[in-house]
Amino acid sequence: MVAVCFVCHGNICRSPTAEAVLATLVERAGLNHAIAIESAGCSDEHAGESPDRRSSRVAKASGYAMRSCARRFERRDFARFDLVIAMDRHNRAHLDRLAGSPSDRAKIRMLREYDPDDPRPLDVPDPWYGREDGFTEVLAMCERACAGLLTEVRRDHGL
Ligand code: 4NP
Repeated sequence: MVAVCFVCHGNICRSPTAEAVLATLVERAGLNHAIAIESAGCSDEHAGESPDRRSSRVAKASGYAMRSCARRFERRDFARFDLVIAMDRHNRAHLDRLAGSPSDRAKIRMLREYDPDDPRPLDVPDPWYGREDGFTEVLAMCERACAGLLTEVRRDHGL
């Protein structure tokens, strides 16, 4: 089993969106038995909450169901995942600090590294204080990058 965890700040907007998108791609590819997907946050301020309504609405309109329950990513979680994927550079810096060993740190990536358009900067911008179209943009970024991520995981693991 290849285990992937997406990590954003609050675990209610960006990382649950990426989780829902990748879960749908994995399901369509018939790879549920081979790839496990979760999400978590750098902060615990929204722990226990359902995804943000604006994220859920935008995802649902494109056919994705968001079902996560927010929680914080802990140092011990590194042991459970092969890839720990940050949504922006702040999340990445937090994970780099949290990692307890070089092997933990080697699991950290940024989501947009997998976007075939090779975008710069690599951040998925925080949509929390912005307008509704920020959530649409987050979803589009997740769709492009998760397609690239699935291709890479399949190649690396012979799936
Ligand atoms: P997320 O979005 O990190 O994509 O879940 C945010 C959610 C909440 C806050 C910031 C970003 N907040 O400041 O409460």
